[in-house]
Amino acid sequence: MSEKIYDVPAEWAKRAFVDDAKYREMYERSVKDPTGFWGEHGKRLDWIKPYTIVENTSYAPGNISIKWFEDGELNAAWNCIDRHLETRGDQVAIIWEGDDPSESRKITYRELHDEVCKMANVLRNRNVKKGDRVTIYLPMIPEAAFAMLACARIGAIHSVVFGGFSPDSLAQRITDCQSKVVITADEGLRGGRRVPLKANVDAALRKVGGVDWVVVVKRTGADVFMDDVRDFWYHEAAEMVTTDCPCEPMNAEDPLFILYTSGSTGQPKGVLHTTGGYLVFASMTHQYIFDYHDGDVYWCTADVGWVTGHSYILYGPLANGATTLMFEGVPSYPSNSRFWEVIDKHQVNIFYTAPTAIRALMQSGDEPVKKTSRKSLRLLGSVGEPINPEAWEWYYHVVGDNRCPIVDTWWQTETGGILITPLPGATKLKPGSATRPFFGVVPQILDADANVLEGECTGNLCLARSWPGQMRTVYGDHARFEQTYFSAYPGKYFTGDGCRRDADGFYWITGRVDDVINVSGHRMGTAEVESSLVAHPKVSEAAVVGYPHDIKGQGIYAYVTLMTGVDATEELRKELVAWVRKDIGPIASPDLIQFAPSLPKTRSGKIMRRILRKIAEDEPSTLGDTSTLADPGVVDELVAHRQNKR
Ligand code: PRX
Repeated sequence: MSEKIYDVPAEWAKRAFVDDAKYREMYERSVKDPTGFWGEHGKRLDWIKPYTIVENTSYAPGNISIKWFEDGELNAAWNCIDRHLETRGDQVAIIWEGDDPSESRKITYRELHDEVCKMANVLRNRNVKKGDRVTIYLPMIPEAAFAMLACARIGAIHSVVFGGFSPDSLAQRITDCQSKVVITADEGLRGGRRVPLKANVDAALRKVGGVDWVVVVKRTGADVFMDDVRDFWYHEAAEMVTTDCPCEPMNAEDPLFILYTSGSTGQPKGVLHTTGGYLVFASMTHQYIFDYHDGDVYWCTADVGWVTGHSYILYGPLANGATTLMFEGVPSYPSNSRFWEVIDKHQVNIFYTAPTAIRALMQSGDEPVKKTSRKSLRLLGSVGEPINPEAWEWYYHVVGDNRCPIVDTWWQTETGGILITPLPGATKLKPGSATRPFFGVVPQILDADANVLEGECTGNLCLARSWPGQMRTVYGDHARFEQTYFSAYPGKYFTGDGCRRDADGFYWITGRVDDVINVSGHRMGTAEVESSLVAHPKVSEAAVVGYPHDIKGQGIYAYVTLMTGVDATEELRKELVAWVRKDIGPIASPDLIQFAPSLPKTRSGKIMRRILRKIAEDEPSTLGDTSTLADPGVVDELVAHRQNKR
């Protein structure tokens, strides 16, 4: 691992909100006196009824309960819009950059207010009330932001489903939270290609009923099926309503949104975030970590279908009165210079993207970057997976012209906001390290026997205490919440990540230690891909693991045992990839499939994934002990036919 160090530039230490001394002082206070610290920083929001209780949290086994600011009342849309109107009504809130470079739009805070109120009134007119669930399945168009904020305004709980998920995945997420309404578009547009969103919704709703309304935003103008009773066009409904809609007063612990994410077992879980703590944390992290100052143009390239889009395109930046850029397209369309052209076009100062995008762009060399100016850039960010030092250095030297600090931000859907990260005016940088904890965050590294390790060490990453942005429960299944996050190490939140702490106390995330794989920064449960594969009539058994992939970080490697008499052909391999793609969505497509006459199992029938992982990683010499296998001969056959031979 690289141990190269980049010191904090003097001008950064001076201009940033926090320098090293201030970081240490604030951090110490945040962990010694969390009530005082968060009590003070909670005031960054407008409260309808101020809180008197700051923290009421328990990680005690059998009694996991997380509440922040629990007697306060506020509204997230008010905090993201209305409170800015007096001072920055004419400031641009959202810059929208279309898939086609000729299309862009600027939406001021006043316009945002009017659009959100219209959407909120359309929903209210259909009897959507506080606590109701609304599924949002939209492309990256301004209406996605309007829809999320409209829900927040009337107290409905949004569940955004990434537009790349299949009808089945969408159906399952609609059913799990019993949404009454789905908001979608005729089609999405990405890299010049159309995504049939409305047709996917129709297919999903043919499987699951229970939805009263489908609101359809016109994006491409495609001719789509419209159910006479259930479906209506948003632009027509919006003409009938006013731009006035009061904000519903919400308790700090009332749910703001549900976001589904993959775990190591079973179906994706509905991660529930509530209103007060989440918004305090999202806005505070956005301000300090990206050193956001008034007037800055900030761009996070994530999709609003992921948590990064929730916290760092929408809620954090807008709560801070920022100008946030929303991009409909992809980094490679119309050319590999697109990101950098957008930066020049809108004079972006802060740019936040994922290592997978950096690695993909790095492959086409420096020229597509160097032909753009990027002079406006001041700070770069990375999120979603470990960034390899080579990609970090390229990002720093080529994209940032050796001028812009990189904040490598570690966090999760569950954490609501960034937990481990450099602060640009305070923290020296080591390529590949997420460096130090944010305020209020107490990381611990534990060994397999639950011993807390001190000093330099490697082990499993836990968090010893709560922070305001923490998820509160798995929607509808609190037992699963306790089991997933608090049972491995009782009394602590277990992240599922492995981690190393170096001599400086810097943290290096090494990747998931559970059966979750991180493909291009997107989480995928191996169990989900396996159950999709075994649902195919020709498959009898499947085991899925991750393996190192040059661009995606991790690729999906599937071992498949076929039904007796079925031939293992190239055609079937393609068919299985297409099957999973259709069943879950393109992000779940296996990269490599190995047909396996049988899988390595213990005598009790448990598949030995450790061995499968080693074979997929092309490390057959380090398989370890295989003597406990029911039939050790299976391994030789798998090694001989491995798909990832270097
Ligand atoms: O393994 C870690 C990895 O992404 C996981 C969380 O995925 P998700 O909930 O989809 O959220 C992604 C965006 C916050 C983590 O458990 N991860 C995320 N950021 C980093 C990271 N791994 C290393 N370095 C990071 N900066």
